[in-house]
Amino acid sequence: GFPPLVFSGIQPTGNLHLGNYLGAIKKFVALQDDHDCIFCVVDLHALTAQLVQDDLVSQTRQIAAAYLAAGIDAEKHIVFNQSRVAGHAELAWIFNCVARIGWMNRMTQFKDKAGKDRENASLGLLAYPSLMAADILLYRATHVPVGDDQKQHLELARDIATKFNNDFSARIAAAGLGVPMRMGEERVNGYFPLTEPLIEGPATRVMSLKDGAKKMSKSDPSDLSRINLTDDADTIARKIRKAKTDPLPLPDSVEGLSGRPEADNLVGIYAALADTTKAGVIAREGGRQFSEFKPALVDLAVEKLAPITDAMRRIMADPAEIDRVLKRGGERANEIAARTMGDVKRIVGL
Ligand code: ADP
Ligand code: NA
Repeated sequence: GFPPLVFSGIQPTGNLHLGNYLGAIKKFVALQDDHDCIFCVVDLHALTAQLVQDDLVSQTRQIAAAYLAAGIDAEKHIVFNQSRVAGHAELAWIFNCVARIGWMNRMTQFKDKAGKDRENASLGLLAYPSLMAADILLYRATHVPVGDDQKQHLELARDIATKFNNDFSARIAAAGLGVPMRMGEERVNGYFPLTEPLIEGPATRVMSLKDGAKKMSKSDPSDLSRINLTDDADTIARKIRKAKTDPLPLPDSVEGLSGRPEADNLVGIYAALADTTKAGVIAREGGRQFSEFKPALVDLAVEKLAPITDAMRRIMADPAEIDRVLKRGGERANEIAARTMGDVKRIVGL
């Protein structure tokens, strides 16, 4: 099979928030002890939503700073930004020719982001999952820690890998590049792995603090809807105090959270920050009023986030050092990427 390798990325689109931290970055940190990892700042993806941008470079540095501040070891693992490694765009083009338009049209994120005026969305926004598949498969990564919102894109990456492996199976075999793997019931030799998403724990989809039906998002116009990683303790306290809740106390059992999205969300956030489960939180906090639970959540959030916020600020004060890390990471990534692109060109016949 394929050697285990973890890949993930975050877009440099501002307002890095608690959802990004609990759904992604915190998991990166947990995985790095036992796995080889590649963590990317996916700056090419940032162009899909908005073409002309003022500060893509500083936004990119900010995501890199968050990775480092959270404790990712950039010596042991690879930390870089996507646009430095030409293979991402190159492999995405091949994948655009593997993937079918119908696959892209079905993506719920595209439908959400394109809105009603779909004809006016960028072609890049439609092809986004193809570039994401390239990000992952350029390194033949086996595992991708992400939030729940990325599940459908991961399935599409598997569809692309499957079609590539099938369509080129004879060429892959002739070039001696096949790796024994399972595809469904079959045992075959493929070139790309069927990458598994790692979506686990109590905070795979952190919801808006203002609307239990919407996910916490960078692009939400209401700053009160999210806790940003740059928020100070007072701001975190104010946002949690103002978070929407229902009038009931916390339930006595975790089942009692169903049908109570705001309570479920705050308990999930507490559980993820405390490295426990929702049931574990309810065992201790069940029956309490929000007027008691919210201050406990504030204390926990500040305790866990303040060191990261402080470290981010320190790291951001030395942009040249961040650039050095990204450059070195890019060189290391490119060594792997160039090998893959050499293989892919041989397989495709370019
Ligand atoms: P956003 O969705 O905020 O624009 P990205 O698309 O760059 O951010 O996502 C970065 C990572 O953060 C992805 O793994 C994504 O699944 C995760 N993520 C984003 N929002 C949330 C959320 N509300 N809850 C949990 N994980 C999230
Ligand atoms: Na996202």
